[in-house]
Amino acid sequence: MTKVSPSILAADLSNLEREIRRIEDHVDYIHLDVMDGHFVPNLTFGFPIVEAVKRVTNVPLDVHLMVTNPMDLVDGFLDMGVGVIAVHYEVCTNLYMALSKIKRGAKAFVAVNPQTPVVLLEDIIPYADGVLIMSVNPGFSGQRFIERTLEKVRRLRAVANELNPNLEIAVDGGVNPDNAGALVENGASMLVMGSAVFKAPDPISVCEEVRAL
Ligand code: DX5
Ligand code: ZN
Repeated sequence: MTKVSPSILAADLSNLEREIRRIEDHVDYIHLDVMDGHFVPNLTFGFPIVEAVKRVTNVPLDVHLMVTNPMDLVDGFLDMGVGVIAVHYEVCTNLYMALSKIKRGAKAFVAVNPQTPVVLLEDIIPYADGVLIMSVNPGFSGQRFIERTLEKVRRLRAVANELNPNLEIAVDGGVNPDNAGALVENGASMLVMGSAVFKAPDPISVCEEVRAL
């Protein structure tokens, strides 16, 4: 079964509780895109909103930190009891330290931008719970999936099979039921979907269709 993590960035943020209720029984995580207007050209939300989401649901939260200084925020999210924290390879000067700290209370994921080759991850794979491969340039939901991601997933899965067979491979950006099958065939085990879930006429069937892959 493929894990599904809908990104609330594409939800109706003025009705967040209602949006979460619609899908919560059909998902594995809820994905929260924390952006600082610096690492990415967009600003979203931080502790207060993630805390509010935590209060309305028991679904584990999957926090994607698109910020220049992720380590400033890790303690706060650990205290909140989120399920996953992803820090970007591109801004982490000491990934081993970052992942070790995250692992004290959550699953530790490394996120990579579309231009970051997955071969660079080889030496950190044994210490990571997961890798989040970005399949759009981070910053906005609703962008088109970058096809080359399939090849990156395939390569990463081959390396992970040797170094850390339990590694979760998550893909984020432009994922939908049309490309989900190929992603899973190439080795993805968790799919983040924003628009494909929240802009769909029937979000539940989208989640269940992808979970069944
Ligand atoms: C992009 C975010 C994604 C985004 C996904 O920077 O990290 O999580 O919200 O949204 P879709 O699925 O619409 O591309
Ligand atoms: Zn994300």
